[in-house]
Amino acid sequence: MAVPSGIGSCGLGLVGLGVMGQNLALNLGDRGFSVAVFNRTPEKTRQFMEREVSWRDIRPGYTLEEFVVLLRRPRTILILIAAGPPVNAVIEDLLPLLAPRDLLIDGGNSHFSDTNYRGRVLTEKGLLFMGLGISGGAKGARFGPSLMPGSPPEAYERVRPLLEAIAAQKDGEPCVAYLGKGSVGHYVKMVHNGVEYGLMQLLAETYDLMKRGLGLTAADLAAVYADWNQGPLHSYLVEITAKIFRHLDEATGLPLVELIQDRAGQKGSGMWTTWDAMDLKVPTPNIDVAVAMRDLSGYKHEREEAAHLLHGPPAQYKGDRGRFVAHLEQALYAAMIMTYTQGLALLRRASEAYGYNLSLEAVVRVWRGGCIIRAAMLDELRGAFLAQPGLPNLLLDPGLSKEVLSRQKSLRKVVGVAATLGVPAPGFMAALAYFDAYRSASLPTNLIQAQRDFFGAHTYERVDKPEVFHTEWEDD
Ligand code: 6PG
Repeated sequence: MAVPSGIGSCGLGLVGLGVMGQNLALNLGDRGFSVAVFNRTPEKTRQFMEREVSWRDIRPGYTLEEFVVLLRRPRTILILIAAGPPVNAVIEDLLPLLAPRDLLIDGGNSHFSDTNYRGRVLTEKGLLFMGLGISGGAKGARFGPSLMPGSPPEAYERVRPLLEAIAAQKDGEPCVAYLGKGSVGHYVKMVHNGVEYGLMQLLAETYDLMKRGLGLTAADLAAVYADWNQGPLHSYLVEITAKIFRHLDEATGLPLVELIQDRAGQKGSGMWTTWDAMDLKVPTPNIDVAVAMRDLSGYKHEREEAAHLLHGPPAQYKGDRGRFVAHLEQALYAAMIMTYTQGLALLRRASEAYGYNLSLEAVVRVWRGGCIIRAAMLDELRGAFLAQPGLPNLLLDPGLSKEVLSRQKSLRKVVGVAATLGVPAPGFMAALAYFDAYRSASLPTNLIQAQRDFFGAHTYERVDKPEVFHTEWEDD
């Protein structure tokens, strides 16, 4: 083994020099931390060291052994590689080189059940483990991500100064907080991504309605989203949407977005959110439809065939276009609140089910900056949890309920127009249905109970008497 310079000098080791890893290493280096880096292919490490590192105290390990001896003890190692089996493989390779109290941090989008498992195995070996959700993409990693850690308190205290230094700062507060033990950080990141899917679906629907329904051009759309971003909808996703519509393809001069295939990809975190929400019996319809619409987008050939067969009404809106755009803005705000509401209600339930003891105020605080779902409206959501830490659903907050109530007319208008024009708007429809169902003191689910009892003798409860009943319905 070559003896590297700087033995035992680095406070943090980083495994994985993909874009995220490189950017986080530079972010750490900028803030004066000494970092050791390792990548499976040494060539990448070499290139990174030559091209990017400059004056920063970043040291390369070209083998895992070289890398590990660079680290100060007890060691702290951040793993930033693709989620799944590769994480297990890196941990297994590292294990023989580590000692008790060393801390391993998984900064990927790992499924929370994998994090639970790894935490158990590593704790048995005397090591510390942290599942760290990181949001903000490549730019966030470089200049300030939102960080969602879950670990034993001792592990968090060890890396707290470092995490607070590299995280995004919002109104003087770092976008990181100790969220609790075990897999809570990765769980919160999973729900972040579920909400991200929901918000992106809503924005796609506004695009469809304005393009097909109102005939707006990409330049018009860029102006609308830029204008929305100046108001209550101010958020990262609205901001980048405006930029996307402004971007022209160099070769053709056309708006690039119009040249992109309409099949949406996914790595799975939105789907995981929906799965777990169903497991925990928490309704998250905005996230569910967002996953379903990405799936449906994949059936391109069938859609093309169906387009010739299944005719709908003409998609042109006949009313005042400006007024409809104003309704869309209001409806989008209400539907976005509904999407955050569903994600946070899921976190509330998951906290009980998995013993996370999670503060939703802390979650919203961490989401206010650096991450993909950062938005001005999160200040209001945070205020709701500060006023009532145990709030079961954001729609029960007096301030937020007013925000939604004042926009319900617009939400109904958008859903009505979408249905009339035949433009699919399942996100807006799901948001409105969630709102209407949640505010219904009685739902028609008594009929479902009767049907279940009719065909399966599943029994039912009555509104006027205690106990459980079964009826021989056929005798009626
Ligand atoms: C973030 C993003 C990031 C990534 C997701 C979603 O918070 O920085 O959520 O984690 O973009 O993996 O990707 P998919 O859309 O491919 O599921």
